[in-house]
Amino acid sequence: MDRYAVVGHPVAHSKSPFIHARFAEQTGAELEYGLMDVAPEDFTQAVKSFFDEGGCGLNITLPHKQRAWELSDWRSDGAERSEAVNTLFCDDDGRLRGHNTDGIGLVRDITGNHGGRIKGQRLLLLGAGGAVRGVMPALLAQKPASICIANRTVEKAESLVRHFAGPIAMQATHYDELAGRQFDLLINGTSAGLDGKVPALPEGILADSAWCYDMVYGRGQTPFQAWAMDQGAEQAIDGCGMLVEQAAQSFYIWRGVMPNTAGVITALRQTLQH
Ligand SMILES: NC(=O)c1ccc[n+]([C@@H]2O[C@H](COP(=O)([O-])OP(=O)(O)OC[C@H]3O[C@@H](n4cnc5c(N)ncnc54)[C@H](OP(=O)(O)O)[C@@H]3O)[C@@H](O)[C@H]2O)c1
Repeated sequence: MDRYAVVGHPVAHSKSPFIHARFAEQTGAELEYGLMDVAPEDFTQAVKSFFDEGGCGLNITLPHKQRAWELSDWRSDGAERSEAVNTLFCDDDGRLRGHNTDGIGLVRDITGNHGGRIKGQRLLLLGAGGAVRGVMPALLAQKPASICIANRTVEKAESLVRHFAGPIAMQATHYDELAGRQFDLLINGTSAGLDGKVPALPEGILADSAWCYDMVYGRGQTPFQAWAMDQGAEQAIDGCGMLVEQAAQSFYIWRGVMPNTAGVITALRQTLQH
């Protein structure tokens, strides 16, 4: 039986075991996918033991993505640029290979599953934590017109803008400095929604036909989706699809088979309702 797991702290809430069990059923794979709640000081040893004991692959979640990046002997371009790894596996030479599939998951959900556009759009990213950092390489690769990163702690947004500086116009800002500006695609990468909150955004920042995407997901509409609909967004999408798409990319990296995601997104939504 091939063994996989997600490592986090805490991790009990993770939907990854559910998603990978559906991928396994669909592809006829015999695997088990577990939860590993590991404190930061135990992370390195836990990863080593997992692979030494024949484990096949790990997903990495809060707060370990940066440490996983440091531990990796090889990193994909996206992981290298974001300095965050959410997928690990050990190659035949015993080298730890690190990927970041969050950005691919987000882009596939927006452009593939929902038929949205990132290229040429004015993007506003809310938040400057690990999630936003992780998706930046994939978003930049789509060639948006510009990216503005707004965060409660503006220094973190400034640091991301410096880190990802390149040909695409980028800016860091406080939320209250957004008044009078307009954006085509807003992506919420804050965890404010977990407390039922929305970042303090001024009125009127959605351009005509703007789309809003919340990386957060839960039972029913998220607070950010509700805010977006209230502001007249053309689409307000939650992060269920991103979660399943990033998992599918991890599954592909580990097993060389790309699972079908549509039915799994529907199944995940159904379990979240209950
Ligand atoms: N759908 C998916 O596949 C997926 C993938 C990755 C992450 N996520 C979700 O994305 C969210 C962020 O994850 P993360 O890893 O980036 O977490 P993180 O590193 O802890 O960062 C949290 C971010 O949220 C901001 N924030 C928290 N509470 C806020 C509030 N009340 N008002 C305004 N801003 C607030 C923080 O601002 P400060 O810097 O000012 O503290 C920071 O920018 C989580 O809810 C996570 O579940 C979803």
